[in-house]
Amino acid sequence: MEPVQVGVIGTGWGELQIAAWQRVKNARVVAVCDLDAARAADLAKRMKIERSFTDYRQLLAIKELQLVSIAAPTDTHRSIADAALIAGKHVVCEKPLALDAREAQSLLARAEEHRAVHAVNFEMRYLPGFQYAKELIDEDYLGQLLRVDVTMAMENPWGEHGKWAADDARGGGVLMELGSHFIDALHWWFDDARAVLAGRRTLFPKVKSQMALAGGNGKSVDPIVTADDAFWCVMQFARGGEALLNFVTGARHDPGWTINAHGSLGTLVIKNGELWGRRDGDRELAPLGIPKRLEVTEKPNDPLLWGMVKLFERVVARIQGDNAQIFPDFRDGVALARTIDAIKCASDEQEWVEVD
Ligand SMILES: NC(=O)c1ccc[n+]([C@@H]2O[C@H](COP(=O)([O-])OP(=O)(O)OC[C@H]3O[C@@H](n4cnc5c(N)ncnc54)[C@H](O)[C@@H]3O)[C@@H](O)[C@H]2O)c1
Repeated sequence: MEPVQVGVIGTGWGELQIAAWQRVKNARVVAVCDLDAARAADLAKRMKIERSFTDYRQLLAIKELQLVSIAAPTDTHRSIADAALIAGKHVVCEKPLALDAREAQSLLARAEEHRAVHAVNFEMRYLPGFQYAKELIDEDYLGQLLRVDVTMAMENPWGEHGKWAADDARGGGVLMELGSHFIDALHWWFDDARAVLAGRRTLFPKVKSQMALAGGNGKSVDPIVTADDAFWCVMQFARGGEALLNFVTGARHDPGWTINAHGSLGTLVIKNGELWGRRDGDRELAPLGIPKRLEVTEKPNDPLLWGMVKLFERVVARIQGDNAQIFPDFRDGVALARTIDAIKCASDEQEWVEVD
């Protein structure tokens, strides 16, 4: 079978997306696009991609191109994905799918109208610990879920990002950028959210961008953060049980993230990727051996890269006719957007909000 021809739009995180696509059997990256012409051309040269563009419409005009993989900033997803679907392409879009549920829903409708294969890149679902936790939860390891706590503490969440990631209007912020992965995993493991109570904060509205730090004299302070850099949220699941999410910026030493799930029969903990568990008969909470079939054994040892490879392989298999393949798609993108809309509203109104 001929490989599926892929075009990648956006080359920040998109560079790792390309590295993942290049490891997928039956796929070939034939074009790349970025507003930054030099970056697009350099990447195309380094990664042996035939064509590079600065305008995504030129990339979409390639007739043989079957699939578009979008890694441009979140506020561009709706227009780029919509144009790609209208051009008859299948679409993999970065998370979060769109700025809000209305945009996400319109993309789902467009994808269904064009009978396109659609996916959202929630690659954390493919981390071995997340995969095995899903299997155990489905086998009732926890019993009735009582509470799942997700905490993440970081010193500086903006990293290498351009200013868009700290801009609320452009879909930036810790909730959209990082919280989204964990809320998606909670939906997948436990159920969609029914109601939320939340508080979003901007603890450090005046943070220097990486670029300002590198180029400036270090004296001026750019007020760049309009998005949340911290949030807490209680989510009630439709099927019972609740989650408490607590994300904070400014913590020294980047302690990372932890998930603690407590049920009537057992406990599961994921700390920085490693899965621990305890049930009756176990002496203590201990690491759970991940089955070999779920382990990442390939080089480089980058679980997020290989998570993307697994997701993309399923998308390609679906395009080539294997309907059994399941992966996070635009429906999951809509579910996430509904929960995030409700979290933002609950934070603004300071009251419980039902998820639409
Ligand atoms: N799945 C993950 O784990 C993960 C990780 C990081 C980022 N992301 C997502 O990827 C997306 C991009 O984030 P990033 O960190 O790479 O941002 P970034 O700012 O580092 O890179 C974005 C790139 O897109 C380019 N760009 C902007 N508008 C464009 C347009 N209209 N056409 C073509 N190129 C355009 C920019 O020039 C830039 O090079 C976001 O939606 C973000 O949430 C996902």
